[in-house]
Amino acid sequence: MTNEDQFQLATYKKMPIAAERGGGVWIYTSNGENYLDLYGGHAVAGTGHCHPHVVEAIQKQAGELLFYSNLVYSSARARAAEKLVSIAPDALTKTFFCNSGTEANENAMRMARMATGREKIITFSGGFHGRTADAISATFLGKYRDLGRPNVPGHLEAEFGNVESVRALADDSVAAIMLEPIQSMAGVRMAAPEFYRSLRELCDERRIVLIYDEVQTGVGRTGQWFFAGSDAGDGVVPDVVTLAKSLGSGVPVGACLVTDAIASHIKENDLGTTFGGGMLAMAAVTATLEAIENDRMLENVRRVEEYLRRRLREVEQIVAVHGLGFLLGIEFKENAALVHKRLLERKIITGTSSNPTVLRLLPPLCLEEVHVDMLIASI
Ligand SMILES: Cc1ncc(COP(=O)(O)O)c(C=O)c1O
Repeated sequence: MTNEDQFQLATYKKMPIAAERGGGVWIYTSNGENYLDLYGGHAVAGTGHCHPHVVEAIQKQAGELLFYSNLVYSSARARAAEKLVSIAPDALTKTFFCNSGTEANENAMRMARMATGREKIITFSGGFHGRTADAISATFLGKYRDLGRPNVPGHLEAEFGNVESVRALADDSVAAIMLEPIQSMAGVRMAAPEFYRSLRELCDERRIVLIYDEVQTGVGRTGQWFFAGSDAGDGVVPDVVTLAKSLGSGVPVGACLVTDAIASHIKENDLGTTFGGGMLAMAAVTATLEAIENDRMLENVRRVEEYLRRRLREVEQIVAVHGLGFLLGIEFKENAALVHKRLLERKIITGTSSNPTVLRLLPPLCLEEVHVDMLIASI
């Protein structure tokens, strides 16, 4: 730990543990301790740590071909793209692979500008979209946007959950409305289903591209493959969905899923990245989606979420539980940072949020009732 602090920039607030190995919902430290990981390695370990099917696929691919760019065809890339499109809502028919969430959002905004010939982007207070120039300029949360100064021009801020605030900004210079359908970092804030429906209608009426940033909510986290198309969002399907985090179970990968209409505007060399769609990441994507399917993790999320919510109701200090599936914000009467610290002392990893009273849970999708019991006992 000392060496890392000595040789790395001090830009992360670290927990005082050194993760050496992982398995399922567990992290094993260099001191031989076990931690129950309810933060899922920062929402990345959707299939759990080191899922055997994913590990095997990565090992096999590493022995065959680590990487070749998009300038050649690849069966690993073809399989990943087909699998990803097959689980997406029907209207999302094509994918573009990149390497991270922020990059997926940059490309989504760029596609919206190409498709509409307009420049402005509406996003929401409380949303987080990444740290590259355009994405951080779209992030109206705390200090983040200022970290990206001078910001990319043409970003407008609306109020999450308030469609009138969007309508007031949505003139014919607006290319896209982009949102985290559940605002995770802001303290796991969700809007009413009608909000998503109204945004869809507004976008259709004014020929604006609707982008869901599903970097956190995608790939099964809410108990459905995506928030797009789910009942919680009144079945609304956006024009673009962005993904990253758990898509590769820890191998860096991001993606944009788009409709035919968006795809028809994208020509050769309009978008590109060296590493996007590399074979190792593609093997990880296919295996991740297969593991979620084979282990029936979506059903598991829905069942265990219900149990978790029931057990959390027993805890007097809890005011409310926000979110959906395994993206939950537990609102305490007191400071959540203290709860986070105390749970860590009891060897349970959770997350905080920008709301000081909300503790975030983003566990692997394989979390079981017995682990919930451990959390409740410790709380
Ligand atoms: C909703 C959302 N969008 C985008 C990002 C940026 O992703 P990345 O860190 O992979 O660039 C994050 C990261 O936390 C996120 O939570």
